[in-house]
Amino acid sequence: MSGCKLTARVSGVGKALPERRLTNAELEKMVDTSDEWITQRVGIKERRIAAEGEYTSHLAIRAAADALEMSGLKADEIDLILVATSTPDMVYPPVACLVQKALGAVNAGVMDISAACTGFIYGGSIAWSMIRSGLMRHVLVIGAEINSSVVDWKDRDTCILFGDGAGAAVFSAHESDTEGVLSIKLGGDGRFDELLCLPNSGCRPFPEISGRHIVMQGNETFKQAVRNMYECAVSALECAGLTSADVSLLIPHQANTRIIGAVSKRLGLPDEKVFVNIADYGNTSAATIPIALCEALEQKRLKRGDVLVIDAFGAGLTFGAMAIRWV
Ligand code: ACO
Repeated sequence: MSGCKLTARVSGVGKALPERRLTNAELEKMVDTSDEWITQRVGIKERRIAAEGEYTSHLAIRAAADALEMSGLKADEIDLILVATSTPDMVYPPVACLVQKALGAVNAGVMDISAACTGFIYGGSIAWSMIRSGLMRHVLVIGAEINSSVVDWKDRDTCILFGDGAGAAVFSAHESDTEGVLSIKLGGDGRFDELLCLPNSGCRPFPEISGRHIVMQGNETFKQAVRNMYECAVSALECAGLTSADVSLLIPHQANTRIIGAVSKRLGLPDEKVFVNIADYGNTSAATIPIALCEALEQKRLKRGDVLVIDAFGAGLTFGAMAIRWV
């Protein structure tokens, strides 16, 4: 033993996106909206939509396989698979089980996480805790969604916002006092349970709402998102003995460029320290952060020693942030 603290680092990442692009121009033909409105108010230009027969597990498996390959691990070295999703293929078996089967990760425990758009950070925090406690060495965390299956395509308030996709990261044991995951802050506020819901998706019937689709109070959700994402990022940094001045890159949940702009401004972060890819994919819920992390690495936006903050917000309300010194 080196005497260093046991922590976790991200040893591999991957992403998977459906091929089909749904542009704002196409949405203009489906609902009363415009490319200009969507671009200005939300910052989305197009989103990906799953093909018929393409499910959350398919995207999760593709993203996970890439993350595993990058980590250099064999599938049987994975100790735990966590899939954050609000749109599983079915309630059970968990999507994590389908990923395990496809990868041949025969030694892994499996579990899905229901924490809406914050699910990847909740998954990352479980991975960190398991690794830090010495119980596990490699945990695969996936965020995967087929949001197109729960969108009301006649509701212009919501149908323009969401897209399908998956991202994955392998968290691996790392001995260091200064590098890897530094801190987490998790939070929730059930008082706002009605701001963003998916009625008719569980045992409770909602006879007043026909079918199963996202229902959202956009304005109030917006305000809560800004406040909670800001406060979570500050708390996570404080726990790590850092301030926003130390941040090299913020990867925020991609729900709206104006939410991202407001959070970054409060943190005092210039645009070049904030990763934004919402124009290409829309809001992929639990998948936004791992997809963005994958693209940040592809674009060489992170190098060893950089302080990365991932920061999310979702229905529930749920929120959370994690600070990582990149290695
Ligand atoms: N196209 C054109 N006009 C529209 C559209 C549209 N797609 N949607 C709404 N409008 C209209 C409204 O009807 C309204 O018209 P009115 O003034 O005549 O009543 C006007 O635009 C303004 O509507 P607002 O709701 O006030 O618009 P706002 O600027 O708040 O933007 C939005 C709406 C984009 C939904 C914003 O509130 C938002 O991003 N909220 C947060 C959403 C979010 O983050 N959701 C997910 C978080 S958690 C998760 O990811 C699961």
